[in-house]
Amino acid sequence: MKTILVTGGAGFVGSHACKALARAGYRPVTFDNLERGHEWAVKWGPLERGDLREEIDLQKAFETWRPWAVMHFAAYSYVGESIVDPMKYYLNNVGGTAKLLSACASFGCTNFVFSSSCATYGIPARLPLKEEDAQSPVSPYGHTKLVVERMLKEAEASHRIRHVALRYFNAAGADPDGEIGEVHEPETHLIPLVLFTAMGHLPSIKIFGDDYPTPDGTCIRDYVHVSDLADAHLGALQWLEAGNPSSSFNLGNGHGASVTEVIRASENAAGLPIKAEICPRRSGDPPILVSNSDKANELLGWKPKFPRLDQQIGHAWKWLKRQSA
Ligand code: UFG
Repeated sequence: MKTILVTGGAGFVGSHACKALARAGYRPVTFDNLERGHEWAVKWGPLERGDLREEIDLQKAFETWRPWAVMHFAAYSYVGESIVDPMKYYLNNVGGTAKLLSACASFGCTNFVFSSSCATYGIPARLPLKEEDAQSPVSPYGHTKLVVERMLKEAEASHRIRHVALRYFNAAGADPDGEIGEVHEPETHLIPLVLFTAMGHLPSIKIFGDDYPTPDGTCIRDYVHVSDLADAHLGALQWLEAGNPSSSFNLGNGHGASVTEVIRASENAAGLPIKAEICPRRSGDPPILVSNSDKANELLGWKPKFPRLDQQIGHAWKWLKRQSA
């Protein structure tokens, strides 16, 4: 059985990847400092509590588990927070990853799957976005992900570490079996906040801008189910196992939904009206982000099982209801 060190395995996407790995016959070992991840989400393998910024923690994890590959999710991931405190983002997302790659080099672990982001593209010059489009981030968070993509190329040249960088669009939904789901503290993402409003935890959902150049004036995003993202990580691992070269892939469904459409779909899932208020734009939000994921479809054999917004919101709603029961 191959051991995969999953940094951030106690987080939203990382925990779903651990489930997919275990189901496919790998041993996922979660490496997480539990600052933003959750111990309850580590269900499919051991937890190695540690911090990327501490070489000693990494050394212990590599010595104990001798992983065949690393799946690297651990990172700070709030665009807004990265604008307020960029160095925090560089120290963890870039500095921590440099230490992780050094550990990989020292222990001869030469297979690496990286959680990158559509935030590396910035404001798109054309849509849908393809992997070869210019990457010009508009937030420190996006820059940290792009710097790591660059570091991975250098790690390959110097240490023969092959990698796959997966550029997700907007992760959504929850485990269809209801075992794990999205819990961010604080929560800033649209779908959970809309559903919190439906549950009465918030008085209304704030719509950040209704004057964008989109059909209803609100921002459009390409929502992708977290279990489909987990499957793509498995596909990426198998791509490396088959001896293929390093590569990067967009992960989205190729169609966008506006903020208003997300609210409507959530009203349908909850069976209730959801109060919304129009607020000023949030800085750093591109009007439209939609992925062209043909490359992942063709080369990784990635076929999303839950491409529709109603499926994603339905699973997220089921998860939240279960948490509050
Ligand atoms: N939005 C609202 N009200 C809210 C929250 C969000 O109107 O209360 C809007 C945002 O302005 C945006 C859309 O809903 O237009 C989606 O916002 P999210 O915060 O859910 O997601 P983002 O698109 O900002 O962020 C996601 C990932 C990031 C990644 C980014 C790339 O969470 O990690 O996509 O743009 F960097």
